[in-house]
Amino acid sequence: VERTLTILKPDCVRKELIGEVTRRIQEAGFKIVAMKMTRLTKDTAAGFYSVHKERPFFDELCEFMSSGPCVPMILEKENAIKDFRDFIGATDPSEAEEGTVRADFADSVGENIIHGSDSVENGQKEANFFFSEQQVTANKA
Ligand code: GTP
Ligand code: MG
Repeated sequence: VERTLTILKPDCVRKELIGEVTRRIQEAGFKIVAMKMTRLTKDTAAGFYSVHKERPFFDELCEFMSSGPCVPMILEKENAIKDFRDFIGATDPSEAEEGTVRADFADSVGENIIHGSDSVENGQKEANFFFSEQQVTANKA
């Protein structure tokens, strides 16, 4: 079964949408196998999003991701990576399909509520960024 890594971003936490978004994630058939609340430092956020370090919005992105606590989770489902990206909607909420989390709750491309891994390989790396395999194993035991 495939895994993806999501983060309920600091805007999601500030808007008190942890419960609503988590309910939707579960209702859509994703199984939560690890989760926690954590506040990233700017440097940690920069490490997580290092693929974007040459992009013009990188500093803004790291500033935002460290602006308050966030909630990373590892999710399992058949076809988790693609299905989850369909579930959250386009990066820019004004382009996101109706009924997606970003269409319903995100304010802007910068503050877009939620992250989803873009490939199986990146999903694995991102899961390892926040959790150890032993943590997932312990949660399943
Ligand atoms: P993630 O799931 O968060 O990785 O989003 P994504 O895969 O839909 O988009 P991408 O990986 O291209 O960009 C990563 C994140 O950078 C986005 O989710 C946004 O939060 C932020 N971002 C992307 N483009 C812009 C932009 O033009 N301005 C700002 N401020 N942030 C942006
Ligand atoms: Mg991305």
